[in-house]
Amino acid sequence: MTDPAHDVDTLRERALTTLTTARARTSLLTSCVEDPDLTAQHSPLMSPLVWDLAHIGNQEEQWLLRTVAGREAIRPEIDGIYDAFEHPRAERPSLPLLPPTEARNYAAEVRGRVLDLLESTAFHGTRLTEAGFAFGMIAQHEQQHDETMLITHQLRKGPQALHAPDPEPAPLLTGPSEVLVPGGPFTMGTSTEPWALDNERPAHRREVPAFYIDTTPVTNAAYQAFIADGGYDDDRWWTPEGWAHIRQHSLHAPLFWRRDGKQWLRRRFGVTEVVPPDEPVLHVCWYEADAYARWAGRRLPTEAEWEKAARHDPAGDRSMRYPWGDADPEPEHANLGQRHLRPAPAGSYPEGESPLGVRQLIGDVWEWTASDFAPYPGFQAFPYKEYSEVFFGPEYKVLRGGSFAVDAVACRGTFRNWDYPIRRQIFSGFRTARSGDV
Ligand code: AVJ
Ligand code: FE
Repeated sequence: MTDPAHDVDTLRERALTTLTTARARTSLLTSCVEDPDLTAQHSPLMSPLVWDLAHIGNQEEQWLLRTVAGREAIRPEIDGIYDAFEHPRAERPSLPLLPPTEARNYAAEVRGRVLDLLESTAFHGTRLTEAGFAFGMIAQHEQQHDETMLITHQLRKGPQALHAPDPEPAPLLTGPSEVLVPGGPFTMGTSTEPWALDNERPAHRREVPAFYIDTTPVTNAAYQAFIADGGYDDDRWWTPEGWAHIRQHSLHAPLFWRRDGKQWLRRRFGVTEVVPPDEPVLHVCWYEADAYARWAGRRLPTEAEWEKAARHDPAGDRSMRYPWGDADPEPEHANLGQRHLRPAPAGSYPEGESPLGVRQLIGDVWEWTASDFAPYPGFQAFPYKEYSEVFFGPEYKVLRGGSFAVDAVACRGTFRNWDYPIRRQIFSGFRTARSGDV
């Protein structure tokens, strides 16, 4: 490989730093509350935090110590408890989970052995060890659960436990609210990104007709205009499933919002505050995003449109790793990694904009797309079907771009997330699009 970012010493260093960063975050998320808050279930949608903690260690043990290094199980009796497919989240509190101290010690013991293994493992030879893939996969897995645990913290009742500075005020976008992405083919997905997961592969050409896309995510102010216009009371804007869902559950606003006289308040990590008008809207489900777009005379972008807006370099007819180019994300590019516990105002991050001037594609809020979660042509499950393959199908919608809650190691221009269209405890927002003139 000629890309210096992908040479073996750099990748080994990157494996060490990303594993270490992930563990620091896991430790914070599982030490900022008392033990009873770790074993409690704060929402039937989520696991107890102590389940995530030992599951992180168990996945790391299974893939790195047992599969890569061929070691015996440290605690074979616990595998079933931490198998996400054996036990749905709602029933995890009733399992004989490792108590907090044991869970911490188990994860730490695994990690100690993994750091020794990292030094002695050749980054080639098998598909799992090539370019350190399994180490990168495990760092991403831990960071994905760190985002999941942050969602649990957001659902938790009680006083504030987490603290972070607000995003730095930055010059906001003064350019147009949408741009035209010219029609034509582009390369979607990747075959060269060393730690890209199976569903991002392989790279393939896609024809994408011309379309317009918002230069920023949809804001709370814009979403409030939809609410004020009776958006939740008008079935013209909703799909039949979406309309049935909001009626049945009496949804009138994003999750965590509450009306207070003339204004909207929201609860965010234990603090109640006025909904900030210029921030990207957060905690909306796919049905709400889709309805807003229809009300606005627009639609959600397809997944291919989103990726073309985020990666296509019109100057070079090639796909970049990120909107700003091929460099790994730095704090000036995007709001990632729980540095802040909220999205930055829409129009922030000029350094992160795409060649066409689209901002905040990476970080801030996961963006719902119009697309179902489906395999790319030539998809091969690797290293296990339960990461992606078992979820392919029309019941899941794709989200792109990552949120403030996910680390850069688990967020790329090609990264694909998915969830049910009713979900809104996730850090989800959206931007809109419309087809170009023919
Ligand atoms: C890719 C975020 C949908 O959390 O269910 C974690 C990631 N997979 N452990 C999830 C995942 C296995 C996954 N998402
Ligand atoms: Fe997991």
